[in-house]
Amino acid sequence: MARPQTLQQSLPGLLRVVGRFRFYIFKELPLIAGSLLALFAGIGLRLLEPWPLQIVIDHVIGLEPGGWLAGLLPLDALDPVALLTLSALSLVVIAGLRALADYGHTVGFALIGNRVTTQVRNKLYRHLQLLSLSFHTQARGGDLVVRVIGDVNMLRDVAVTALLPLIANMLILVGMLAFMFWLQWELALVAMATVPLFWLLTLRFSRRIHHFFRIDSTNNVALALAADGEPHGALVLAEEQTAGRGRLGRSWYSEKASGIYLSLILRPQLAVQQAPLLTLVAGLAARDAVVEATGLAVDIRWPNDLLVNGKKFCGILTEMQAEADRVRHVVVGIGVNVNHTRIPAELESIATSLQLAGGRPCSRLELVAGLLRAFDGYYNSLLNDGAAPLIARFGEVSSYAQGKRVRVTAPREEFIGTTAGLDSMGCLLIRRDDGEVVPVLAGDIRET
Ligand code: BTN
Repeated sequence: MARPQTLQQSLPGLLRVVGRFRFYIFKELPLIAGSLLALFAGIGLRLLEPWPLQIVIDHVIGLEPGGWLAGLLPLDALDPVALLTLSALSLVVIAGLRALADYGHTVGFALIGNRVTTQVRNKLYRHLQLLSLSFHTQARGGDLVVRVIGDVNMLRDVAVTALLPLIANMLILVGMLAFMFWLQWELALVAMATVPLFWLLTLRFSRRIHHFFRIDSTNNVALALAADGEPHGALVLAEEQTAGRGRLGRSWYSEKASGIYLSLILRPQLAVQQAPLLTLVAGLAARDAVVEATGLAVDIRWPNDLLVNGKKFCGILTEMQAEADRVRHVVVGIGVNVNHTRIPAELESIATSLQLAGGRPCSRLELVAGLLRAFDGYYNSLLNDGAAPLIARFGEVSSYAQGKRVRVTAPREEFIGTTAGLDSMGCLLIRRDDGEVVPVLAGDIRET
């Protein structure tokens, strides 16, 4: 059967999965009730937020003195300064309580998602352990365990960071609309009339993220989309690549649901010779995101291999379509080995994953979010302040920038030298043993 590629196609399967979780969800009923209570309290407090302003309008500006609130509190007896102070104070209290209620339901829903998926994972794990020993001794048995646990972890990421917040926000929206209809249905209808506009907006922006379960290469898809006019900032993500491509015609090992395989489409206002700087942007962004998420000591080997303990776990492939003087579009493809628990034997001596290096799994979703945030920062810094800050940052975080003995394998020659910083276009400068300093535009660098 073909794998579902869209949300609609995935829905029946997703509902079946949720059905299987029923028992574990029922076990969390008190927490669910508490989170819903916090959520509805948040709705109520949101609806209360305009009332202090109403007090100011009715009793300070004096549009409509009296009213039901004045029946409860002696508002008309207070002077304008006291009324303003009272309104400001109540606004602060309401906003504070609302923030608390929002915090309560966000944490509550995250806890529910974590607990349910952890119980399911443990149950699955126990189940798999009970399978016959002979099954376990087969390589594919271990493979199955890793994949199942990886899939459940992915489900937890999606539930905690996307699905449950989405459900909570939908409930808030529906609750507020119901209350608005109850208070004043005419005004609620006017508010509803704006909904199609939001739908149009989501249509415009949601087209910018293309997610695939299985694809040959995210760079191939991104290049095709970019040629078709996909806008700047569009993102292509895949759970698995069947023909992931690396630099210099190599392939990129892309195990299902274990790594990050993404390509960004950019339409930068840069001269063609500046485009390689985008590779530095991507390398620095990926490094920052990984350091923030794992605390590991990450090195960058020029131009953009990320290393931990001397082994590579992240590679970047930048491809460009350009005219004589202008970049038309650039595709920056980033591959990160995140939760791989095994590296193919032929790569074991040079490659690793964050889980193998750090000893614990990492949320791919958080990493992608951190990476895109950091990319945005470095990208804007490149456009606004030029290459100098990027080059300085590279010098701070890469042990390869200065004074490292390396073997350079360039397209036309191979030689040994010592690194001597980057030039203004991001090319690595190498001091040859005869003293001459040469820039390397493309090629491979290896520590000697
Ligand atoms: C390298 O170090 O050789 C670069 C590897 C780049 C791999 C990524 S994975 C996502 C994107 N799609 C591809 O086919 N390649 C890049």
